[in-house]
Amino acid sequence: MIFAAALAALVMVSYLPFVSAAPFSFPLSNGFPTISNPSTQLTIIEQQAHGSLPSGSLPPTISDNSKTSLRLVAFNELFEVAFFTELISNITNSTGGTQGYEIEDRSTRKTVLDALNAVVAQEELHALNANNALANFKSNPIQPCKYDFPVDAFSGAMVLASTFTDAVLGTLQEVQTLFATDGDASLISGVGSIIGQEGEQNGFYRNMLGKIPSALPFLTTMTREFAFSSLNQDFVVPGSCPNIDEIDLPVFATLTVVTPDIQPKSQNIQFSFDTSKDKAIESRLSGLSLVYINQQNNPVVENLQDVQVQNSTVLFTAQFPFDEATFGNGFTIAAVTNSSGPFSSAGAVANATLFGPGLIEIN
Ligand SMILES: *[C@@H]1O[C@H](CO)[C@@H](O)[C@H](O)[C@H]1NC(C)=O
Ligand SMILES: *[C@@H]1O[C@H](CO)[C@@H](O)[C@H](O)[C@H]1NC(C)=O
Ligand SMILES: *[C@@H]1O[C@H](CO)[C@@H](O)[C@H](O)[C@H]1NC(C)=O
Ligand SMILES: *[C@@H]1O[C@H](CO)[C@@H](O)[C@H](O)[C@H]1NC(C)=O
Ligand SMILES: *[C@@H]1O[C@H](CO)[C@@H](O)[C@H](O)[C@H]1NC(C)=O
Repeated sequence: MIFAAALAALVMVSYLPFVSAAPFSFPLSNGFPTISNPSTQLTIIEQQAHGSLPSGSLPPTISDNSKTSLRLVAFNELFEVAFFTELISNITNSTGGTQGYEIEDRSTRKTVLDALNAVVAQEELHALNANNALANFKSNPIQPCKYDFPVDAFSGAMVLASTFTDAVLGTLQEVQTLFATDGDASLISGVGSIIGQEGEQNGFYRNMLGKIPSALPFLTTMTREFAFSSLNQDFVVPGSCPNIDEIDLPVFATLTVVTPDIQPKSQNIQFSFDTSKDKAIESRLSGLSLVYINQQNNPVVENLQDVQVQNSTVLFTAQFPFDEATFGNGFTIAAVTNSSGPFSSAGAVANATLFGPGLIEIN
């Protein structure tokens, strides 16, 4: 459980396991994710989304690495459809008993539901677009998993939506770069259109939390490995994904951000990880580093301090060198690496990561 993020007035929520409802599972009542093109179901989704799937044609083939990116995009968008479907259900049903999701002000409630009803259909189209592309390239579509969401109130759901949208906004940057370096430039502009779209969404979530809509001048970059790890660690019910093995990305071991309520100041923050699956790591702790990725800047490497090992749990602190102008605002990714770098990119950090990502939100 990774998230530590700011609510309005810097009230922080740390996501710990909740006793929650049954996991979310597909299909939706409209048959999603099985939606033919063309079909009446697709037209209804497009009307709700205020727009259509792209009609342009795709190239005959793409690289295997680009297929990995499309699979991750589909995997993530399916998760988002699940989240927003359940969130809308919680809000619309809140008079019937889903406590924590009541929105008293009628006009605010309508604004929220208008926004989320468009978002869920737009996310369905994002998922269908990625899976249709995979089918075009003679690859299997990614099938949905079952999901649990570590929230039980509307404000927490907005914090979570803003945080996972930041993760997507970082990861799609890398997806664009990989499409370019792998010679699949024709896929880049469609991803750009989704980046802007998800940025619009995040402005809304931030606004609901009393934050300014735009977090940073240059949004934090992320990698596919961190995104895939985070989705699996935080939301996916283990063993519930029919063809997750077709996604050629690692799932790192979990890094927990222990310190709640992280304030915008330079400070030591506490982390933990579990060594029960790799006890040998306990003899190599002095070779590990804690690395932060924030904005478009070079990753920041810190030493592990105050290291304690208790029953297969390693607890430690690391400096969080917050500076309003240069480090730590907005979205930050933390990872424990087996090298002290220096690292010149998020990809270089991911290549040396053993535990991560820890996700931190400030402002
Ligand atoms: C919906 O409400 C249930 C019950 O409180 C909760 O377990 C679940 O996490 C909520 N889902 C979302 C997406 O907010
Ligand atoms: C509404 O909430 C109640 C109580 O939590 C739950 O039993 C029911 O399944 C929910 N209905 C929908 C449509 O989500
Ligand atoms: C470690 O585990 C032992 C045996 O399960 C337990 O008795 C002890 O309280 C644990 N210590 C800590 C610090 O959690
Ligand atoms: C990460 O490792 C892969 C595989 O060894 C390599 O191709 C890639 O260039 C590395 N990325 C960075 C940014 O170092
Ligand atoms: C460091 O970790 C990376 C990622 O798990 C792994 O590929 C690499 O072999 C490790 N290097 C050493 C020296 O342990």
